[in-house]
Formats: sequence, C-alpha cells, structure tokens
Amino acid sequence: MRHMIDPLDFSVQEVENLLNLADRIAADPARYQEVCRHKKLATLFYEPSTRTRLSFEAAMLNLGGSVLGFASADSSSAAKGESIADTIRVISCYADICAIRHPKEGAPLRAAMYSRIPVINAGDGGHQHPTQTLTDLLTIRRRLGRLDGFTIGLCGDLKFGRTVHSLIKSLSRYSGIRFILISPEELRVPDYVLREVLDPQGIPYEEVTSLEEVMPRLDILYMTRVQKERFFNEEDYVRLKDTYILTEDKMKLAKETMAVLHPLPRVNEIALAVDGDPRAAYFEQVQNGVYVRMALIMTLLGLSDGGKERTE
Ligand code: CP
Repeated sequence: MRHMIDPLDFSVQEVENLLNLADRIAADPARYQEVCRHKKLATLFYEPSTRTRLSFEAAMLNLGGSVLGFASADSSSAAKGESIADTIRVISCYADICAIRHPKEGAPLRAAMYSRIPVINAGDGGHQHPTQTLTDLLTIRRRLGRLDGFTIGLCGDLKFGRTVHSLIKSLSRYSGIRFILISPEELRVPDYVLREVLDPQGIPYEEVTSLEEVMPRLDILYMTRVQKERFFNEEDYVRLKDTYILTEDKMKLAKETMAVLHPLPRVNEIALAVDGDPRAAYFEQVQNGVYVRMALIMTLLGLSDGGKERTE
C-alpha cells in the first residue's frame, strides 16, 4: 500500500507517470468517469480549505466514486479528544482512500502508520503540501514544456508556506534549477530546507528582499500569501502582510514568457489587474489540481488507465 505524505514519496519517474496520466485525463475526462465506481474517498480536514478539499472531492466524483468526511475539527470527534491514530483506524472501515489536512506537522504521517487505506497529506501545518506541488509541477510543465533548466522566484511567506517547502524539495530533483528566495528577514525559508535540501546537492539559490530587482531574471514567479493563522501575534502579521504586492507595473519588468503561480487563496499579494495578464497561471493551477488529484487517486488505488494505458 502506498501513501503520499512527502513530495519525495514518489520517484521522478513516478511523478512523470502521474503528470502524464493527468494530461490524458485532461484530454479525455469522459474516459475516466467510471474508473472509481464503488470506491470511497474520505476527506478529513482539521483546518480550513477551499481548493484542496473540494478538488479532491471533485476528483473522486469525476472518477465515478463517492466522498464522505468532515471539514473542520469541531465537527469531528477530535473535539472530544480522539487521537488521529484512532480516527484513521475508524475511517479505514468506511473508505478506500483518504486525504488529511491537519494543523500539526507530521499528523498525516502518524495517520499513515495506523491506516489500512492509502493516506494523502493534504497539508500539515507549515510543513508540506505535496499535492499542491503536483498541481504546480503540472502547471509548470504545461506552460514551459519542461521541469528543468529554469530560474524560479519564490516570494512572500517562505517560513510558514508549506507549498514552498514542498515545491523546493520536489524541483531540487531536476537539473538546472536556480531558486531566488524573496522574503522579509522574518519570513525566510527555514534553515532545514537550506541545510538538508539545497546545500547538500549544491543547488544554486539566493536569498533577497527586493522583488523588483530580480523580476527580469525569472522564468517563474511563485507568489505566496503571508499566513496569518501561523503568526503568534497580530502586530507582526500586520507589519509584514503587504511586503510584496505584484502589480501591473512590476509585471512590466518581467520576461514576456514568465509564468506567475500562486497556490491561492490570495489576499492582497497579487493585484486584481494582473489576473488578465496572459502570464497569470494561478487559475490554471486550480483546474490542473483536479486532474492531478484524479491521477493520484487512481495511482494510489492501483487502478489502471481505463484499460488503455500507453507505454511511456
Ligand atoms: N492551495 C490550497 O491549499 O488552498 P486551500 O487552503 O483552499 O485548500
């Protein structure tokens, strides 16, 4: 049985197979509408979500399966003190696969240790968000036609941004990637990402504070929200929340081919006027998130590609 807890749980080849399957699903969704008939997905969300929970549910429904679950800890027996280990043992009796979002780092990993069904990490605290990364990779590959040989700027809350941590880990396996890490001093990428991921592999990176200065060099700009819910005090959040706002004027500094990604939700960090720029790819990410989660559900359940799998 496979789980998806960390972005490195799948090899580069397995990720490629997954993205290829997502592309085939996008090209012909009708072919996949019965693949998960009689299968059930449980979504256990102990933290708020719009995209991740609903895209998992849409993915399972698109595959002909069913969904059950809860959208907040308050509406589950976690509110009565039930442990994640007990909860997953119970859910294993009800569903064939589950996606868990939890404020505690490592909670989905702990669930996987007690589970009889595949567990997907749908975001654990400020740690990892591997299925957002699959969404990002699919969007990058569809835009640029490749996953290697580019300069990516990651901008905003790089400390608490779990999508950033997972994307760095994942892209580090491809050649010719250069990271430009754009953040205020207080929201720098955690040391463990630099020391355990980038430094040992000799992957080039720069830490800077100015977005404008690096814009002309970027092939991809990955904007992120300052994560209010992870701050210990309101004062710090208010001081830092508007450090970076991507505007039409700043977009004039960028390459014609640059892609702007954002995992969403957006608060204030991308001006609405940028949405009409052909380089804005963040709503494409949302659509790609459904295709890639359909591919992931099929893969973790060991379901074939409608009996028509091509050799890759
Ligand atoms: N990108 C993302 O994780 O969005 P949600 O918090 O809405 O799921």
